[in-house]
Amino acid sequence: MSILDRTATIQDLRNIAQRKLPRPIFDFIDGAAFQEITLRANCEDFDKIRFRQRSLVDVSKRNLSTTILGQKSSMPAVISPCGLGGICWGNDGEKLAARAAKAADIPFTLAMLSIATMEQIHEEIGPFWFQMCLLKDKELMRALISRAISMECPVLVLTVTWAAYGLQSRSVRNAMMFPPKITPRTLWDFSKKPAWVARHFLGKRVAFNNFEGLVKDPGDLDYIVGQIDNAATWKDLEWLRSIWPGKILVKGINCAEDARLAIEHGADGVSVSNHGGNQLDSAASTISVLPDVVRGVDGRGEVLIDGGVRSGQDILKACAHGATACLLGRGHLYGLAASGEIGVTKALELMRYELDVSTALTGLSEISEASTEILV
Ligand SMILES: Cc1cc2nc3c(=O)[nH]c(=O)nc-3n(C[C@H](O)[C@H](O)[C@H](O)COP(=O)(O)O)c2cc1C
Repeated sequence: MSILDRTATIQDLRNIAQRKLPRPIFDFIDGAAFQEITLRANCEDFDKIRFRQRSLVDVSKRNLSTTILGQKSSMPAVISPCGLGGICWGNDGEKLAARAAKAADIPFTLAMLSIATMEQIHEEIGPFWFQMCLLKDKELMRALISRAISMECPVLVLTVTWAAYGLQSRSVRNAMMFPPKITPRTLWDFSKKPAWVARHFLGKRVAFNNFEGLVKDPGDLDYIVGQIDNAATWKDLEWLRSIWPGKILVKGINCAEDARLAIEHGADGVSVSNHGGNQLDSAASTISVLPDVVRGVDGRGEVLIDGGVRSGQDILKACAHGATACLLGRGHLYGLAASGEIGVTKALELMRYELDVSTALTGLSEISEASTEILV
């Protein structure tokens, strides 16, 4: 019997991840900015929502599949971009998560700041969603965009939450800021997880490899992160709209006003997001502002959500409030850290099962029928 057979929830996968990862790496994926108030609020506010349970409705034929920004998906879920997420498993985690997403028939988003390159992901799964930020060097941006176009990425996810950087408090305590410092305590933390350490040293170099050939050193994390343009405005979205032929999803919207601006400046959809609590601590939880953002968009685009999605019940709650789909951040990273590709598959299976059961017990046959009617 494998450990995954005894895994019933995403929290179980998180517990395994905690056992398998060196503490500084676990804290890198699990921790968030400052006091982590928003990280907790994202989950807690999902937990507070209750369903209206229904009985004696014919739910013998059920359908969770949907279309997200023109892409067919077997359920309303997308893998969220997680920079350096590959570090969870042999520095190759993005490739493994992409394969699991492909097998589960849901979209995979590759982060610009990933370890795997666009070309490697394309070789594994074909077209994928690509995430970028607005960069100071527009030629650098154009170079990345033209590669994404050549790989027929249908959706460009534009992250807009990085105008300044939230301090990852646990990483400070672990001396894991860039560049990481080797202290006796970190050596001790890593020495306790030899399997992770062995995979790490056998794996590829941790660097922002999408920038290979475009900057002097793709391992110079500070330089590349410094390229993210904090002078960017909605005008830059218009510019992006003029050069990107596919759909644009603006990720990082937290109020109706910004949702309206995103749509008016060319976005096809927005993701309600506070970057998983990694940026503005005490920002409103995503599920609490989702209804407001749906009103701001007013049917002129799609509304997705990320932040705190840890179960199929959470996905259904988001759909009930008008989201097309949820982006899964930590929800998939815990699976990846627990067991590589099969761990991500397990995370997706758990959420699919929970979503299916919850859909049936709220009296729905089609996920597209979800509305606030199913909530107390
Ligand atoms: C380790 C880690 C790295 C991340 N890197 C990125 C990134 O490169 N680009 C991005 O748009 N979001 C990034 N995010 C944010 C996620 O895409 C997503 O918004 C967030 O994880 C949602 O919150 P949740 O994981 O608590 O559900 C990252 C999140 C984590 C945990």
